[in-house]
Amino acid sequence: MSALCFVAASMSSCKRGHDSTSWEFAPNMYLPVGYEPYSQVSKNNINADGKNMREPVPGTVSRRNYQTTFGAGDSAVVDLMLYNVPKDSIEIAERVLVNPVPNNEKALVEGKALYGQYCQHCHGEGGEGNGLVAEQYKGVPNYKADAYLNMNDGHIFHVITHGKGRMWPHGSQMTPEERWKIVHYVHKLQKS
Ligand code: HEC
Repeated sequence: MSALCFVAASMSSCKRGHDSTSWEFAPNMYLPVGYEPYSQVSKNNINADGKNMREPVPGTVSRRNYQTTFGAGDSAVVDLMLYNVPKDSIEIAERVLVNPVPNNEKALVEGKALYGQYCQHCHGEGGEGNGLVAEQYKGVPNYKADAYLNMNDGHIFHVITHGKGRMWPHGSQMTPEERWKIVHYVHKLQKS
């Protein structure tokens, strides 16, 4: 009797035809077992809103959108996230990075303020390597010394981001835009 039922069931359960999706054998083979944030098939019973993806907690500050134009009338629309050159590739930074922030009074004022916060205690107000903390570092370079006069924008951006030798990295403390403003200001100090 049970054999007969099985035969009857199997004959009626599968239809041949393009419109019939039939039965899925081992659905885990097609659908992920883990929660996928961007492709969700069924309601998530654990999260109250039914979505796999969690909303950011209230008060979260969104990450900056780097598709940015700088200043009125400026045509530079760039993705600053492209400027994530790895630590060991300073030569690439020197070759390919172009400062996307226009070099104007506003950028220099902001660059100066940021320099005062992040660099001055070692590099000194005028960039001569005579900041109060410099003593602890047994010598901080003078930006105006011959060896440093040819540093280009990409080089300085990379040093700020990843550090170099005895200098610590500062990439986690400033946005790329802020780092580029400091780059302008370092050049200004070199010329002063
Ligand atoms: C805690 C001290 C300290 C702070 C803060 C600091 N630096 Fe430096 N910086 C150094 C030292 C030390 C060196 C020399 C590194 C070496 O050659 O070992 C250096 C080197 C440099 C160089 C030369 C890199 C080269 O090619 O040799 C640049 C450019 C520079 N710093 C820029 C900055 C800027 C811009 C800031 C602020 C965002 C900053 N530094 C913050 C200590 C500091």
